[in-house]
Amino acid sequence: MDYITIALPKGKLFARSIELLQSVGYEADNVTEDSRRLVITNEASKVRFIITKTVDLPTYVEYGAADIGIIGKDVLLEEQKNVYELLDLKFGKCRLMLAVPEQMRRPNLTDYAHLRVATKYPNCARSYFQSLGIQTEIIKLNGSIELAPMVGLSELIVDIVETGRTLKENRLVEVASIYTATARLIANRASFKLKFDRLEKLVGDLRVIVEGENV
Ligand code: PRP
Repeated sequence: MDYITIALPKGKLFARSIELLQSVGYEADNVTEDSRRLVITNEASKVRFIITKTVDLPTYVEYGAADIGIIGKDVLLEEQKNVYELLDLKFGKCRLMLAVPEQMRRPNLTDYAHLRVATKYPNCARSYFQSLGIQTEIIKLNGSIELAPMVGLSELIVDIVETGRTLKENRLVEVASIYTATARLIANRASFKLKFDRLEKLVGDLRVIVEGENV
């Protein structure tokens, strides 16, 4: 039997991803987020786990370096990689939103035209403003987006909000929600055909758990 290589993202989705896979027999005993070993093999169940940076995960799957992976819909929408999306795993719910410092709040979205927007999601932000016909300058950052308006790098941010704590702590207010996202199971297109039986079973088993939890 061939190995199945599963890519797991560091960060907020990591722990639940391990838990879910474990519950369908894909044991990942020694797999920890801060492991120095980035490839961990489970000989018994013929599974190999690789741990990647969140934003890179769809690339590993697109090129077939991993057969499948678990990643947020936000990253899929931003990265636009050529992969199959097999299942909504329904955890890791968050939303992409537009936020401004409290004192910058304006009555209409068009009042934010020609301002600068800091974001980790430049493609999503660009298409959002384009769809509204609002011109903005998009500034790509890789993290700590809330810092940008505090130090005058941008007036606005487009970022992920989960609990809302980060916004509150930085005196930012949400002025528009762009989309909501959850974790997805994705697959390399060729792997899905070549390892169809195993992957189909995995999807079926995960679906039972995910849907059972959401009844
Ligand atoms: C994300 C996001 C916000 C925060 C939102 O950042 O960019 O900063 O989480 O979560 P909350 O609404 O629960 O406070 P992440 O922790 O991924 O790190 P980053 O700032 O380095 O992007």
